[in-house]
Amino acid sequence: MKILAIETSCDETAAAVVEDGTKVLSSIVASSASMHEKYGGIVPEIAAREQLKCIMPTVEEAVAPVGIDHIDALAVTVGPGLIGSLLIGVETAKTISYITGKPLLPVNHVLAHMYANFIEKIPEFPAISLVVSGGHTELYLMKSEKDLEWLGGTLDDAAGEAFDKTARLLGFGHGGGIAIQQNARDNGIGIKLPRPLLYDNTLNFSFSGLKTAVLREIGKQKENNSFDRPTIEQVAFEVQEAITDVLAAKTRLAAKQSNAKTILLSGGVAANLRLREKLPEAVAPPVSLCTDNAVYIASYAYFRGKKTDWHDISAEPDLSVEV
Ligand code: KG4
Ligand code: ZN
Repeated sequence: MKILAIETSCDETAAAVVEDGTKVLSSIVASSASMHEKYGGIVPEIAAREQLKCIMPTVEEAVAPVGIDHIDALAVTVGPGLIGSLLIGVETAKTISYITGKPLLPVNHVLAHMYANFIEKIPEFPAISLVVSGGHTELYLMKSEKDLEWLGGTLDDAAGEAFDKTARLLGFGHGGGIAIQQNARDNGIGIKLPRPLLYDNTLNFSFSGLKTAVLREIGKQKENNSFDRPTIEQVAFEVQEAITDVLAAKTRLAAKQSNAKTILLSGGVAANLRLREKLPEAVAPPVSLCTDNAVYIASYAYFRGKKTDWHDISAEPDLSVEV
């Protein structure tokens, strides 16, 4: 079964065709990330305008190698995400479904992230799945391809958000987690940041205190005239250590509690090399499938999607991720 998926929940415009949830036949991703750089964050209005321009060329390019006649079903991200962005993907998918008569499957973006681990090889169950993205930090128990149970998540900022906000404080602009990873260096300067909830024995996370701690540290260093390149590298190092220490510990705790056979990582932050180093037993998708794309949207739809009449599908910016 070949599914054409469309993803426009944030600043990416993506389309992909995936066969039987596991074989990628095409994948196209257009991003407006660079356009948001000077504002230090994503501007929803700019993202939506760009997506409106990109959506049809992106879908056309993804369909081209397969041909629309060979597509069996359509899938689209309906939430959670930015309303203006979601609407573009959702209305496009509904229109294609209406015109072609092909079934349409609505997809939850956050749940779908973990299906990036299903490409080429289906994991062994039970699996503990950590979804770490710009907007979410969630732990799930996967008992089978279909059977998901939410175990815990962040009480405030997501891990990716903590990377993005601290990257900005350190002057790395919109580079976010990648910039922190690239600039992280242990220069032997004694800087220590908190590891929130590390030993609280729950499966919850909290990262909002980290940016306050970084802000305080930067203020202190500036006062001492020591906010120089080596110090910036050291803070980046410590930010990455703090976030990945908590992510690794909580994920291991969840795996232990549920006797998991597999640990799965997904979402943009799963691209982080230090996180992968700290959880060597975990399975993680290639970096290109960690950040937003439409491949895992199609894969989720294949394994867990429900055919829904297009009249009943709408954008749901606040769609719940707790299942
Ligand atoms: O999954 P994603 O592309 O979009 C959302 O659904 O949010 O995740 C984006 C997040 C951003 O916060 C970005 O800073 C983070 O993933 N990210 C990383 C790395 N690459 C992307 N964080 C840490 N290390 C990386 N290498
Ligand atoms: Zn995402």
